[in-house]
Amino acid sequence: MSVARSNFLERLCACAWAIAFGLALTLGFTNNAAAAPFEDNMAQRTLACTACHGAQGRAGPDGYYPRLAGKPAGYLYNQLISFKQGRRHYAPMERLISTLDDKYLLEMAQYFSSLSIPYESPKAAVANTELTFVANKLVEQGDAARGLPACAQCHGKALTGTQPHIPGLLGLPADYLLAQLGGWQNDQRSAQVPDCMAKVARMLKPAEVSALAQWLSSQTVPASSKAAAQLPAQRTSSLDITSPQWRCGAASEVASATAPQASANPAQVARGEYLARIGNCAQCHTAQGGAAYAGGRAIDTPFGAVMSGNLSPDATYGIGNWSAQDFWQALHHGISKDGRALYPAFPYTSYTQVTREDADALFAYLKTVPSSPTPNRAHTLRWPYNTQLALKVWRLLFFKPAADTPPNAAASAAADRGAYLVHGLGHCDECHTQRNAFGAMRADATQEGGVLQISQWYAPALQSPWLQRWSDVQLQTFLQNGISPHGYAAGPMAEVVQHGTRYLTNADALAMAQYLKRQAKGSPVLTASAAIGSDTLKMGGAIYDKQCADCHGKSGQGQSGAYPALAGNPNVQRTKINNLVLHILYGGYPASTSGNPRPFGMPPFVLKLSDAEIAAVLSYLRTSWGNHGGTVSEFDINKLRIALTQSP
Ligand code: HEC
Ligand code: HEC
Ligand code: HEC
Ligand code: HEC
Ligand code: HEC
Repeated sequence: MSVARSNFLERLCACAWAIAFGLALTLGFTNNAAAAPFEDNMAQRTLACTACHGAQGRAGPDGYYPRLAGKPAGYLYNQLISFKQGRRHYAPMERLISTLDDKYLLEMAQYFSSLSIPYESPKAAVANTELTFVANKLVEQGDAARGLPACAQCHGKALTGTQPHIPGLLGLPADYLLAQLGGWQNDQRSAQVPDCMAKVARMLKPAEVSALAQWLSSQTVPASSKAAAQLPAQRTSSLDITSPQWRCGAASEVASATAPQASANPAQVARGEYLARIGNCAQCHTAQGGAAYAGGRAIDTPFGAVMSGNLSPDATYGIGNWSAQDFWQALHHGISKDGRALYPAFPYTSYTQVTREDADALFAYLKTVPSSPTPNRAHTLRWPYNTQLALKVWRLLFFKPAADTPPNAAASAAADRGAYLVHGLGHCDECHTQRNAFGAMRADATQEGGVLQISQWYAPALQSPWLQRWSDVQLQTFLQNGISPHGYAAGPMAEVVQHGTRYLTNADALAMAQYLKRQAKGSPVLTASAAIGSDTLKMGGAIYDKQCADCHGKSGQGQSGAYPALAGNPNVQRTKINNLVLHILYGGYPASTSGNPRPFGMPPFVLKLSDAEIAAVLSYLRTSWGNHGGTVSEFDINKLRIALTQSP
């Protein structure tokens, strides 16, 4: 697109935006009244949820967000686990809960379940008697001829649900009901097995689905909307639902770490388990909802997706037939047992630093994880990247295995241990270094940090002078608990903490911190603030007061232990604005860790704020309260959004 035309479009957008904003102001986009005082309770901890699900989870404003309040806790918990494991899909929610552990999700489910909030009366009753007849029959009697049980058999006589795992069917928007029943029919939604609702939904004809959605959403919810105590054993008037296929709605377990199986050398296995955790092997080698270490997770790269391999001891599909030497060859040289060169989406470019002793321990541990006969999935790389020839050229240019006999890391000084963990198993450089056009880490760019090629998160340079300001213990706490002097590990770093560094021993975390501190060079630089129109700043201030000040404070002072201060926060003033925009678009919870087991969260604003609004609010907070970050233009936000939509 020519420059002239793009300028024109920009002006056009800005103008349309100004009109829309003017309208919003006249339609009651007012500054909010006095902010609610901070209270440390579950309502506060779930503000990121109720931004969509409505105050207290009473259902959202636009007729789609489902109600959470008063639903059976077992049901709500099952749904959260289903979102996590890919049986249900809604990207903004999946992203939000990805850093939270199952125990905390259960607490959230119990909290919403305990709320009893009256339902609003439905807007209009259905007049169509034909439709009422169809729906009524299915709800009360089912259809024995098709083997279809009555909805009421499971969902309770009053359709208010059955403890502990079956939800009520009243008080849900028609669009939501349609989407859920359609979801089961099209494999977009499923529950854990036996998934009786999939059976029920697939027996329904399109006209029946629409009759049910309309009729159910038009019923008044009875005053006592609590779920029935439990499933009646059998009802005479309808189908027998005591057979195993209908015994559905079982509980998801709160995950607990499984002890590795017995082995010849328990000390070596325990060490291998520790190394696998801090090397974060399981995160990449476990598919969403799949068995641990069974592989099949797609690692997206700018060249296509590379599928991780099955590392379980299965003899056919896993590494059951591998020797310790084969495993060493993969980790150290990036060559598979069959001689195939491996793609560096597997960060052997860092793992090559791992000692033979540690590789053997990893191998011994992997031999003890439950075996899973999961075949490896084919990569979906584009030509020419999908050829071994291209990969071999890449390896010649950019990969050099570490010396075969690195010094014995365990025995050497703590500082060497820190370097070994940072550059080896921790594979910290893989994200914290700028990559070149071929996706290789640039050796000359250690001061720059890197923008992650798919997610667009910016990982600041680990040699960044900012880190000099942290104490060793602050840096250690960041790795173990995800809490920094000014906020929390966020985005991909929250995942690194959650799946990896929170398991570091105190000694190892401190060794890494001390090493990183020694690397920090130079002095912090801030961008000077460019001039910006006072109208934009005013607009930014208004958005901030309305959308952000409740949590981050009127003057950006934050709330200790819950919400990061934005005033004086170096992250807010950084030249690269990527992380600020990503925070605002997607929100997020810091990782659940032992030092921060029940974190507070930030709601996503992706559906709420336009690019111009985000630019205005960022300009406001980067230049207010003594902050000296540069201002941000709508175009900057737009560029980032385009990069996000172009990534797979
Ligand atoms: C961006 C908006 C948004 C946010 C934020 C959000 N949700 Fe949701 N949630 C949804 C939507 C939309 C659905 C329905 C998705 C579908 O179509 O299945 C949903 C579904 C659910 C369900 C299943 C409800 C049912 O009746 O089946 C639960 C439970 C839930 N969310 C809990 C939470 C919790 C807990 C949080 C905060 C940690 C949260 N949500 C944050 C939008 C959101
Ligand atoms: C054999 C028991 C059984 C029968 C019969 C049954 N359901 Fe369900 N239903 C369930 C269970 C269990 C769930 C929860 C599934 C889950 O955990 O995702 C559920 C969930 C649902 C949901 C999702 C609600 C939400 O908040 O997202 C809808 C909608 C639904 N059922 C509709 C129906 C309709 C309509 C019928 C009758 C045509 C019916 N069900 C019959 C067991 C049943
Ligand atoms: C960032 C994601 C990522 C992490 C972290 C990761 N891997 Fe992998 N791994 C991959 C991918 C992707 C492949 C497939 C590469 C290919 O087939 O070319 C792979 C392949 C492998 C292979 C070769 C499998 C085969 O069939 O040839 C081994 C062995 C392996 N990884 C071990 C590990 C160990 C041990 C760890 C932890 C110390 C680990 N990986 C951490 C992504 C990862
Ligand atoms: C998957 C990519 C990824 C990996 C691997 C990774 N990081 Fe990060 N890291 C990030 C991103 C993105 C940020 C910025 C977000 C934030 O502030 O939390 C970050 C932030 C940080 C910060 C805060 C810097 C600051 O100035 O605020 C530190 C310290 C850090 N990482 C250390 C490490 C260490 C040590 C390792 C290795 C154990 C590591 N990271 C591995 C992506 C990664
Ligand atoms: C419900 C409370 C809440 C609201 C409302 C909220 N935030 Fe946040 N915010 C948080 C929490 C909690 C975090 C830490 C989350 C994380 O790091 O993943 C955070 C983090 C941030 C960060 C990252 C700070 C850092 O150190 O990297 C920025 C920037 C931010 N918020 C800006 C905003 C803006 C702008 C708004 C309004 C448009 C807003 N927030 C609204 C709770 C909130």
